This record gives sequence, C-alpha cells and structure tokens, in this order.
Amino acid sequence: MSKQLAIEGGAKAVGKMGPHPTKIHVDELLEVLDLWELPAPARKTVETAIRKSAKDIKGPHLFRYYNPRPSKVEAAEKAFGKYIGVPYCLAVNSCTSALIAAMRAVGVGMGDEVIVPAYTFFATAAAVGACNAIPVIADVDDTLTLDPKDVARRITPRTKAIAVVHMLGLPAQMAELKALADKNKIALIEDVAQAAGGSYRGKMLGSIGTIGCFSFDYYKVLNSGEGGFITTSNEWLHTRAQSWHDCAACWRPNRFASERREGELFCGENYRMSELQGAVALAQIRKAAKIVKGYRTAFGRIMNALELPRGVKLQRLSDPDGVVGTTLVMFMPDVEKTKWATKAMVAEGVPAGGIYDAKIKNWHIYTHWDHIMEQKAVAPDGLPWSGVKKSELPAYAPDMCPQTLDYLSRVVSIGISANYSAADCRAIAEGINKVLAKV
Ligand SMILES: Cc1ncc(COP(=O)(O)O)c(C=O)c1O
Repeated sequence: MSKQLAIEGGAKAVGKMGPHPTKIHVDELLEVLDLWELPAPARKTVETAIRKSAKDIKGPHLFRYYNPRPSKVEAAEKAFGKYIGVPYCLAVNSCTSALIAAMRAVGVGMGDEVIVPAYTFFATAAAVGACNAIPVIADVDDTLTLDPKDVARRITPRTKAIAVVHMLGLPAQMAELKALADKNKIALIEDVAQAAGGSYRGKMLGSIGTIGCFSFDYYKVLNSGEGGFITTSNEWLHTRAQSWHDCAACWRPNRFASERREGELFCGENYRMSELQGAVALAQIRKAAKIVKGYRTAFGRIMNALELPRGVKLQRLSDPDGVVGTTLVMFMPDVEKTKWATKAMVAEGVPAGGIYDAKIKNWHIYTHWDHIMEQKAVAPDGLPWSGVKKSELPAYAPDMCPQTLDYLSRVVSIGISANYSAADCRAIAEGINKVLAKV
C-alpha cells in the first residue's frame, strides 16, 4: 500500500466497498408478517416468494426523516390532516406525547394551571404534571364530558388551558367551552383520544379548539398499535409541537440553522413516529370513514330500539350527529339498580359494564389518580406541586367532584363494535329492553 497520503496524491486506502446488506431485510419483514398469523401454507408460500427475490429487495428506511423514499408517516399526516380538516398535522408516538407536546406548544409550564375533566383516562392529567403544571380537576355532567359551568368556576388568573376530552366517542360541549376559552384568552386543547372521526356542529373534533390530540393506541377507533397525531390550524403551534416532539430537529428545513423566530427552539424530547407505525396508521386512516360509519350505524340501531322505563335516561348528546358511537350510556335511578341491571344484562349476553365503583381501581376517574391526590413528585424538587404556593393548590380530595361521581356511579355502558350486524344490534337491544322492563 502506498505510504503517500491521499491528500498528497497517493492512492486511497479505502477503495470501492460493498455491497452491504441493508440494516433491515427479509427476516424482519417475515417477523412482521407473523403478526398477521397467516395460516401455515400461506405463510410458507409468501416466505418462499419473498426469499426468492431477497437479493433484489432494498430494506425499508424506517426513520421518517431523510428517507430516500416517500415517507409513510408524512403520508399519514397528510391524510389525517385532510380527514380532520386542518392544514397542520403532526404524527407522534402516542396521545400522551401529543398532549404534552400540545401543552408545551401553547406555552404551559411551571405554576400554570390546566383544567381537566374528572372523568378521563389519567394521561390527560398526567400530561399537565409532566409539563410541571397543575391539573385542576373539573366536574363532568350528563354528557360525561366537561361541565362548562364548573369549568367557569375553576378558571383563575393562572389558568393557561382547558383540556377538553371527548370521552367514549361523545363530543363535548364545544360552543360553551370555546366561548369560555376565548373570553379568558386561554388555549382549548382537545383530547380526541377516544373520538377520532367524531364531529360537533359539522366540524370534526380536533379542528375546533386551539389544538387537537389523537391516540392511535390499540384500543382506539383507529390504531397503529401505538401512535398519535396533533392537529391544528395554527402554523406556529405546529412548529413548536414539532420542536418539542423531536429535539434532534430533523423536522427543520435546516436542522442547525438558528431559530427563525424566538420560541422555535428549546430542549424538547423524542416523540417521533416510526415508518412501521406510519404505514399501519395510513391504512387505518384510509378506512376511517367506513369504520366510523360502522360504529354510528350500530349505535343508532341499538339506541333507536330501546324502550326506556321512567327513571332511566340516555346520556345527553351535545350533537347527536357527531357521536362516534363506540359506547352507549344509560343512567339508572340509583346505584343498586345500576349494579343489578349491569349484572342482568351481562347474563343476557349484552356487552354491558358499569363505570364507577369506589372499591374498583379505574384510572379513568379522578378519585383513583393517586399520583395527583397524593401529589407524587418524580424528584426531590417536588415539581409540579412545588411550582405554586401550597395554599394555591386545588383542594384535591375524593369528594371534590360529587356531580361526576353521582353520574358515573349510575352508568350502565354498552360497548359497541363497528362490525355489529343489524341482527346483532336487534339482539342487544332486546337484551337491554328485557332487563330494563324489570328495573
Ligand atoms: C382520553 C384519553 N386521553 C389520552 C390517552 C392516552 O393515549 P395513549 O395511550 O396514546 O398515550 C387515552 C388512552 O387511553 C385516553 O383514553
């Protein structure tokens, strides 16, 4: 080998290399295929065909940025933004991440208060704490979503945002909540984790407030195993959410350029969605309208066939046309009748369940949020709770939202599948009516 350095005209030490196998190849693809549990002969046929052309296969680039091929995550963002009716849409790895990034984007920080419903999955409140802010818990009403009257009572000079949750696919009372947010110049963050595809007065949920947060975890209307999306019409909030979701700044046109406007760059995290999740999310988004129609049809069929006795009421719908239809809710006259009716319906084969029982842990109800009730902190600095004077903390106590507990303890909920046939719906409604006749 020539001793002369290449920069002085000598021969290069490293000549042409490769070809190297791609980082991810056929073996990984077959592992993914296994998730579909193809029958053995079909699996064998597919594997033989794939292995035959293995040498011609370029592995996928599973990182969304710097992708030499069109990114699936980007395609999913475009498709979901169009479906929700917003110009800006950002894919992330969960709705919890979406909520934190959205709160950070609107500027939530230490000492701020964010109003959350007493009935929501704990993540809505946890996201507030993760921003070092204080979750202020407000009652839900007979819509099982935030009671605007109680929200109005809990707004203080420190309130930075209202995190409204469209629980169980039921649109919240957006006109009243938006008026409150606008009047107090605070952000309205929509947690649409459980209501993708729902709408309110003709506008898609997630396009009405300041910013919308969606979950694509396995149990949601649309899913990619894990995943989430942030939707907004505000370009600046989209930029700041991108900044929080990817501190490596791969999302920027020029990653290392100084900030284009103050507030664009800060110490964020990594919530990027991978191309694998993006591909599954994209396929789900393409089917979204069909999936939601399936839920709505089944919900309508069951609801319209019910014969409610005196004292039993359906949940109040803020917009009957906008309901997703994943769950139908009935309020019984009292707790005893609720327990009995749930048991009797289950015995009939109806997919019924209750919501609140003080003795059964359920992280959808504030009384069971020990992290908040007992003000747990991750570090000795005591944040988020130490961010305000002790006297300024909300009076966290199991009886702080009695209206919520009253409604939740009288709920019989009926789980609905998008795939129920007309006959399934008829049978379920008959089962419910049979029991209700004896309430
Ligand atoms: C209302 C609500 N918000 C937020 C989340 C968190 O979603 P993810 O699991 O995608 O973080 C959930 C999940 O159950 C939820 O139901």
